[in-house]
Amino acid sequence: MDQMVQVGLIGFGTVGTGVVKILQRNADIIARRVGRPVVLAKIADLDITTDRGVTVSPDMLTTNANDILDDPQIDIVVELIGGHEPAKRFILHALSKQKGVVTANKALLADHGEEVFEAAFQAKADLGFEASVGGGIPIIRSLTEGLAGNRLTSITGIMNGTSNYILTRMTLEGRDFSDILKEATREGYAEADPSLDIEGIDAAHKLVIMVNLAYGTPVPMSAVYTEGISNISTVDIAFAGELGFTIKLLGIAKLKDQVIEARVHPTLVPTESPIAQVNGVYNAIHLVGDAVGDIVLYGQGAGSLPTASAVVGDIIDLARNRMYGSFARVPATSFQWESRKPLVIKPMAEIESRYYLRCMVKDDPGVLSTISGILGKYGISISSVLQKGRKQGQPVPLVILTHCSSERGMQSALQDINVLPIVSEPTTLLRMEGIE
Ligand code: NDP
Ligand code: HSE
Repeated sequence: MDQMVQVGLIGFGTVGTGVVKILQRNADIIARRVGRPVVLAKIADLDITTDRGVTVSPDMLTTNANDILDDPQIDIVVELIGGHEPAKRFILHALSKQKGVVTANKALLADHGEEVFEAAFQAKADLGFEASVGGGIPIIRSLTEGLAGNRLTSITGIMNGTSNYILTRMTLEGRDFSDILKEATREGYAEADPSLDIEGIDAAHKLVIMVNLAYGTPVPMSAVYTEGISNISTVDIAFAGELGFTIKLLGIAKLKDQVIEARVHPTLVPTESPIAQVNGVYNAIHLVGDAVGDIVLYGQGAGSLPTASAVVGDIIDLARNRMYGSFARVPATSFQWESRKPLVIKPMAEIESRYYLRCMVKDDPGVLSTISGILGKYGISISSVLQKGRKQGQPVPLVILTHCSSERGMQSALQDINVLPIVSEPTTLLRMEGIE
């Protein structure tokens, strides 16, 4: 190996720019930590003329990623373009040449992880993807190394910075959804396609990656129930607040009796609970292990420098491995490739939860008993009811919190409720967590 470790960066966008900044400003301590200078040799992007706010030599810039992939001097390829293709092709190409690969591409790893992980395994090459989950939070390394001695029973938390930023601003400032999303995009938090954030898909990508590592099993995205925050209104945020709850987009995974439950949805959590205090772009991931008990990892879940911090951590890890000729010492999948096995995924209809319902109903006598009668028919018992406002002839909101019930029963009840002539629009249903 040369006297320096050479890095090629593909994608000079939000995160790529952060990586360049950190490699430049912390070059001295990085070299001391690795034992050799870690040098950014080339940067590829489709656009090499825009000023990114960092100074790089024009000779380093190229519009052709192959200039990096085919350069024998480059030890580590950093993929930060996002999406499925050509990102997958670039990563497989780099792995096939035994280059170390670092990526933040959760969409790729969640949708095509098996192919990418297998390629890393076959090539005996290092694949770092710390930045793919939780931005700057070192969750991947915690799962693959720090907590490797545990049987993990649950992974719960806030896994999408953009959604949490939006919900926080809506809750604290009562502001409009779309304005706040524009702000999150300006800050560099949102995905190139922000529907991935607000429809819960990005959080589901991250949950799939974590479940894969925690339980040693491939999990298809289709097995994760996914619902985002695009239908959350300030009305529901206000009602939840009045009842002592805050709405957060949670990813939830549990393993019980070798059956996995994995879901992402907006959730009411008690306002005084620690998870409700996680605001803005911050993420918090709560893990429970049989030996360690409870662990919460908290930090900025998106943004240029926090995410680049995780990318650079991976670069350093891979550079150290190269120095000692030790490749793929920690399997990318945490479990050894041949020891992974499929586990059963629980269908959403079989989960149990408490629920928040907001029915828009005619303010007539007997409405509450009609609705509670339907809930009772499906074995769902009510824990509290809130009805606000009286507007002659106008629908009024009737908010109901339930005790723990089955999802199957709740969905059947909802179908019956929504066709009642006294109900003027589809009922809002939200799940609740963190209440005994
Ligand atoms: P950006 O869109 O800001 O940057 C991507 C860059 O890659 C753009 O400059 C884009 O150019 C360039 N690019 C696209 N295709 C090619 C190609 N074929 N060859 C060379 N360059 C190309 O995205 P981010 O930096 O925000 O995200 C990068 C990755 O990091 C994604 O996988 C994302 O999911 C992930 N991530 C992002 C986080 C964040 O906070 N932003 C946090 C955690 C992970 P152009 O704009 O012209 O298309
Ligand atoms: N768009 C993602 C988020 C980036 O908001 O969490 C970090 O993965």
